[in-house]
Amino acid sequence: MLPAHFNRTGRPLLWAHRGASADAPENTLAAFSLALAQGADGVELDAQRCASGETVVIHDESLARTTGLTAPVTGVSYSVIRTLDAGAWKSAQFRGERIPLLAEVLEAFPRLVNVELKCERADDRGLTAEVVRVVRAARAEDRVLLSSFNLACLWRARSMAPAIPRALLFEAEQRWILRSALAPLLGACAMHPERVLATPERVSRWRRRGYSVACWTVDDPEAAARLHQSGVNGIFTNVPALMRGRWPAPP
Ligand code: G3P
Ligand code: MG
Repeated sequence: MLPAHFNRTGRPLLWAHRGASADAPENTLAAFSLALAQGADGVELDAQRCASGETVVIHDESLARTTGLTAPVTGVSYSVIRTLDAGAWKSAQFRGERIPLLAEVLEAFPRLVNVELKCERADDRGLTAEVVRVVRAARAEDRVLLSSFNLACLWRARSMAPAIPRALLFEAEQRWILRSALAPLLGACAMHPERVLATPERVSRWRRRGYSVACWTVDDPEAAARLHQSGVNGIFTNVPALMRGRWPAPP
């Protein structure tokens, strides 16, 4: 189970998936700022290591979709990445938004942050170690939750920083994980299943075993309410404002 400050009473914890990504360019400071203004409890972001070693916040392996530069994140130095426009693709209003460093996000938003270690290779080229270094430098160990589809990254995180909580992240194509003992092996305290995998039976089994459960991606408030009723503690959403409409803040 995650520490109590990762839980909310009477509603699921709202993680803004890549920030308020329906309304603002994903994984930018504008999206994180808007998410918190819309009432999200925390932000989810995707962390990768660029060619010069810094941890940058971007979802895709390639810079193309969000910046127009057809090159892999791992092949471009931060001195170039910091000049790219990661906002204009969404709308002219966001022209000039940059790909942030993880360190900048942790400094700008002293709130709950789910750092997804985004790397498909067993050799993560130092991503996990660098994320742990940045989290520690920001003294953010108590408000960061690490997650990854990459089991090697979670294993490294466990050995490098056992006190930073970890979540096992998995998608519908990885049903085999449901029958594995990976969560205890990796010392995970939370399950982050793709929403279709979060049946009431599984959710109650996970909760009985002591895991927090947060599903992705849920943009329908009534679906979020049903999941919460079945025992789900948190959801990842692109539309935090819509979710807060379902669970308005107390006056
Ligand atoms: O952490 C939940 C979610 O972010 C996983 O999928 O592809 O949006 O990073 P993706
Ligand atoms: Mg993600």
